[in-house]
Amino acid sequence: MTVDVVQIRPPRTKDAEALAAVYEEAWQGVYQGIIPHLSLQRMLARRGLRWWDATLRKRGPLLVLDFDGQVAGYVTYGRSRFGRSPFQGEIFELYLHPIYQGLGLGEILFKAARGRLADLRLKGLLVWALIDNEAACNFYARLGGKPVAEGAEAFGEVTLRKVAFAWS
Ligand SMILES: CC(C)(COP(=O)(O)OP(=O)(O)OC[C@H]1O[C@@H](n2cnc3c(N)ncnc32)[C@H](O)[C@@H]1OP(=O)(O)O)[C@@H](O)C(=O)NCCC(=O)NCCS
Repeated sequence: MTVDVVQIRPPRTKDAEALAAVYEEAWQGVYQGIIPHLSLQRMLARRGLRWWDATLRKRGPLLVLDFDGQVAGYVTYGRSRFGRSPFQGEIFELYLHPIYQGLGLGEILFKAARGRLADLRLKGLLVWALIDNEAACNFYARLGGKPVAEGAEAFGEVTLRKVAFAWS
């Protein structure tokens, strides 16, 4: 008998604390030194346990990657916010706790979200990443994403460039 260690599943209400920890640790790990300290602290404060409790109650599209009973990461997805683009689906957030990064688990989450978007009959997929987040940009490029647009986002006094990767 084999037992799958990695499971993609919908969130449970009791996941709020673990998801808040994934978000906080992933953001600290990836954006420290990219997003100015004060802006980063403000965003982390806003996305604490209360935010996650409320978000899970709304039951939006979110999948959890469960590694041997631990919440290792999550992905959120839905209809693209990118106006009238040929890419109807979007992955809004894809985050793994740092101890689970670099193991190929991101690809499992990505493919799961892509499958759900196809189930929703949304054709094509977009993901935005900050250009300074090199690991994420390499990850999406390696999965076959093509850069199709650039944008900018302000974080306090700093404006950072971002790129949209797309899959048809
Ligand atoms: C980006 C992410 C989703 C990729 O998932 P993953 O399972 O770690 O992916 P992989 O194991 O295939 O590694 C992807 C790449 O990131 C690199 N990487 C992974 N973890 C890393 C870390 N902690 N520090 C530096 N690089 C890292 C890998 O070396 C690999 O680089 P390569 O493509 O040049 O070989 C995941 O690392 C993550 O959650 N990162 C932090 C949050 C983030 O940036 N999310 C995306 C926001 S748009």
